[in-house]
Amino acid sequence: MNDLVKLTRDSDIGVITINNPPVNALSPGVPEGIEAAIQTCCEDLSVKAMILIGAGNTFIAGADIKELEKITSGEKPFDGAMFRLFPAIENCSKPIIAAIHGTALGGGLETALSCHYRVAVASAQVGQPEVKLGLIPGAGGTQRLPRLTGLAKAAEMCAGGELVSAAEAARIGILDQLVDGDLLQGAIAFARQVIAKGSLPCKTCDREIPPCDPQAMSAIKHAFAKRARGLVAPQKAIEAVEAASLPFEEGIQREAELFSECLFSEQSKALIHVFFGEREVSKIPGIGKEGSKLPIRHAAVVGAGTMGSGIAINYANAGIPVLLKETSQEALDRGLAIIRKIYTAMVQRGRITQAEMDQRWRLIQPTLNYDRFIEADIVVEAVFEGMELKKQVFAELDKVTRPDAILASNTSTLDIDAIATATSRPQQVIGHHFFSPANIMRLLEIVRGKETSPQVIATSMALAKTLKKVGVLVGNCNGFVGNRMFGPYQREAQFLVEEGARVEEVDAVLVDFGMALGPFAVADLAGLDVAWRIRHESQHLVAQGTRQPLVLDTLYEQDRYGQKTGAGWYRYPEGTRRAIPDPDVQQLIEDKAQQAGLVRRDISKVEIVERILYALINEGAKVLSEGIAIRAVDIDIIYLYGYGFPAHRGGPMWYADTVGLNRIYERICQFEQQHGVEWAPAPLLKKLAESGKKFSDLDRDRSLKRGLITEVE
Ligand code: NAI
Repeated sequence: MNDLVKLTRDSDIGVITINNPPVNALSPGVPEGIEAAIQTCCEDLSVKAMILIGAGNTFIAGADIKELEKITSGEKPFDGAMFRLFPAIENCSKPIIAAIHGTALGGGLETALSCHYRVAVASAQVGQPEVKLGLIPGAGGTQRLPRLTGLAKAAEMCAGGELVSAAEAARIGILDQLVDGDLLQGAIAFARQVIAKGSLPCKTCDREIPPCDPQAMSAIKHAFAKRARGLVAPQKAIEAVEAASLPFEEGIQREAELFSECLFSEQSKALIHVFFGEREVSKIPGIGKEGSKLPIRHAAVVGAGTMGSGIAINYANAGIPVLLKETSQEALDRGLAIIRKIYTAMVQRGRITQAEMDQRWRLIQPTLNYDRFIEADIVVEAVFEGMELKKQVFAELDKVTRPDAILASNTSTLDIDAIATATSRPQQVIGHHFFSPANIMRLLEIVRGKETSPQVIATSMALAKTLKKVGVLVGNCNGFVGNRMFGPYQREAQFLVEEGARVEEVDAVLVDFGMALGPFAVADLAGLDVAWRIRHESQHLVAQGTRQPLVLDTLYEQDRYGQKTGAGWYRYPEGTRRAIPDPDVQQLIEDKAQQAGLVRRDISKVEIVERILYALINEGAKVLSEGIAIRAVDIDIIYLYGYGFPAHRGGPMWYADTVGLNRIYERICQFEQQHGVEWAPAPLLKKLAESGKKFSDLDRDRSLKRGLITEVE
């Protein structure tokens, strides 16, 4: 066959093994190899059946996404060998059995569906996750799957993209048998039963679709219309599955049309950019791969507030014992209660077992002193946001920890270099900026101080993976990448309500755009007290004479801290997170605006989007040109995983590329004329706009210039 696909024999059974590590993707050569192996077996009269199996850890985990990119960029035509493979399998006159372990995903499950039978080990999982890349199954998945499971279940799997366990897959008709013990031996035994029956191979395409409750289908359509929020692929996936009611060839034709629409859509391109971006951000120029990491076996967290308790959970979840220090028993108990509540909810939802909770709980060791900090390989500080306090804590940590221990701060805005001066080891000091809720949000902004050592950076990037986070390395400045850009974003939201928009209107427009929450709802969630503290800590950085938001300080003075006090920009009925627009806040805004001489006007939705997002993008361009972010895609990943930016828009910088930098630059120049100096366009944006380039061009040029970039694993 070829290096990727091997054909061996077990007496009268041909065993076709795919060996394309790490995930046996259907890269060029794999479909051709399978097809050739089938051909050989068909021509050999002594072969009675075939088994298709994956070498290594998995069956086929999907199509090769790089190949899809080649199609959309015009590098390759749209009909690949993959599309010929499935009919070749299905129409084979000898039975072919897919033997599944690991995962059979996307094109992998489609391969299995075109086989005549499917067996799997109990730990296997199957799924059609194409929607996560803005696609639908495009090689018969939407037509064959419903012929096994019924329309509703297939629609749910194709539109939701979630994985299904082997037991569930057997229950809903995808698998014919679960195998105990060795997969290949089990599959061979199954094949012998099939041969013994002597019946012709059972083609999936010839099967009748099992009947399904029409209400179940409409419930799924309704649920996805609500859940998908602007995403095109889930709706198209449902449409394609419904086409399975047509004769098979017509259904396949319809699937191909819908697949093509998705493949060339902006949404899919954005989601594929995100898929690769997540991997790209771990490549750090100048940081070696080999032998550069410190082992992290013991951790400590200082401060058991909102963030500290969530950070401790991250360590415990990764199996790393973690000391959790507070200043008083009362504060410690409060933090432990938060942790217990989070774990209890996980047990109740079936996410972990009680035994797992107990084990993780034991790894969190509360303390009121530094006695055992000598054990810690890393300490994460998460005390209140104040430079003096942070310096005091770091000076203490410098004394009580081993000299090789990493000292990380979870500060959301403060100068890491200034914090490091409180220690005798600035090379060991770094920012580990977790996002709230720290046990859930996937982003870890890793802030490099001017003296932070490459070893500490490499260790931090690797640690992010251990903690199941996406680590993005950023430079040190006020707010780093995420919060620095969030400043202008929040500023414009506030200016817009002062000029005439309503709080709930601004939020609704941003949610319509795809943000998880609008700017005011986010502010209420994060806490207006936190925002106030940050504002006051960085007051000295505010340029004289620039326009400042009018209302935030008053809300803080009125103890309106957001959700935590039941009132902020919105009101929250007792015990709920339901944001209700508050006429008192509206009145306050109007009064303050009038006092400031602002004349209220109607503000269009387009202006709301442009003002808020272009402010974000303009700051992003500054961050990029200053080298605070390594690449534009790093900013995108930060906004997707830390700030609820919609993945199908690819992140703020990718979104800017899709709008066109020229258009954005022009609008920013107009805003500068109308609103003043804070809108001064970033020189990098001007340069790119004038040369007709994109941020993604800049990323490509930069990585080419750097040559070899090593990935920190
Ligand atoms: P918090 O007010 O919930 O908790 C701070 C905790 O630190 C309190 O429990 C306090 O008792 C404790 N503490 C103060 N001094 C201490 C000391 N010397 N030793 C031990 N514990 C001490 O604050 P939160 O929200 O957890 O913030 C902590 C840090 O995380 C801040 O730097 C903040 O800027 C940052 N951050 C906050 C985020 C948020 O959304 N709340 C998000 C990301 C970062």
